[in-house]
Amino acid sequence: MSQAVQVPPEFQETEEMEEWEKKLENQREDILIPQGVISDYFRWKTFMEDEVEFWEVGGTWHTKPHCARVLLLSLLIGNEYHLPKKEINALAMASVFHDSRRKTEWYDVSHGQRAADYYREYCGTHPLPFDERTYLVMAGHDRKDEEWEAKIREELPDDRYVVFLYRIFKDADALDRFRLGKGGLDVNYIRTLKAKTMVLFAKHIWLATPEKVFEEQADRRRDRRRRARAVK
Ligand SMILES: [Fe+2]
Ligand SMILES: [Fe+2]
Repeated sequence: MSQAVQVPPEFQETEEMEEWEKKLENQREDILIPQGVISDYFRWKTFMEDEVEFWEVGGTWHTKPHCARVLLLSLLIGNEYHLPKKEINALAMASVFHDSRRKTEWYDVSHGQRAADYYREYCGTHPLPFDERTYLVMAGHDRKDEEWEAKIREELPDDRYVVFLYRIFKDADALDRFRLGKGGLDVNYIRTLKAKTMVLFAKHIWLATPEKVFEEQADRRRDRRRRARAVK
């Protein structure tokens, strides 16, 4: 990160990032998803299924299964950075609304703004708390980082998390680009260190589905407990 960033000092990762870029093979394929992340995933996924209406675009790239994977990835990255619950929820809300107002599967540069407006409107008529950070993150998720980060800083100059939330969210969205086929994901565009280590894990989530990954992990936890009992 060359530019001074408005993120909490504990999240500055410039040196580590440079190190990581030297060795792109630094992938963690066996991330154990915490139970808290799994519970949040199901809570927000159910909310999306029941409450969020997606415009029909006649394709499968940006439908609810994509948003569910982005939800899991953003919860996971947020958890890895030990973000507070309010910030985790801000990411979750962005995930479940962000592609709901597309007009086409292809290039559609204002779908982020339309989804953000839908989210604001929804909060005005339902008991879902409106978070300005979610609104901004979503509104600009189809914009260029530099341009939108400047806008965010201008809008919320005192918020220590908002730019970081934007980066995490865009990384979670980018990590699901395997679905777009060969060349869909360029890892050089991934922003945060934690997301950079999850590229292959994200591919596995896409291939297997989040629910299947949870089952695999439950099996592994059971095996581990069995082995631990056998050692005693
Ligand atoms: Fe989008
Ligand atoms: Fe998306």
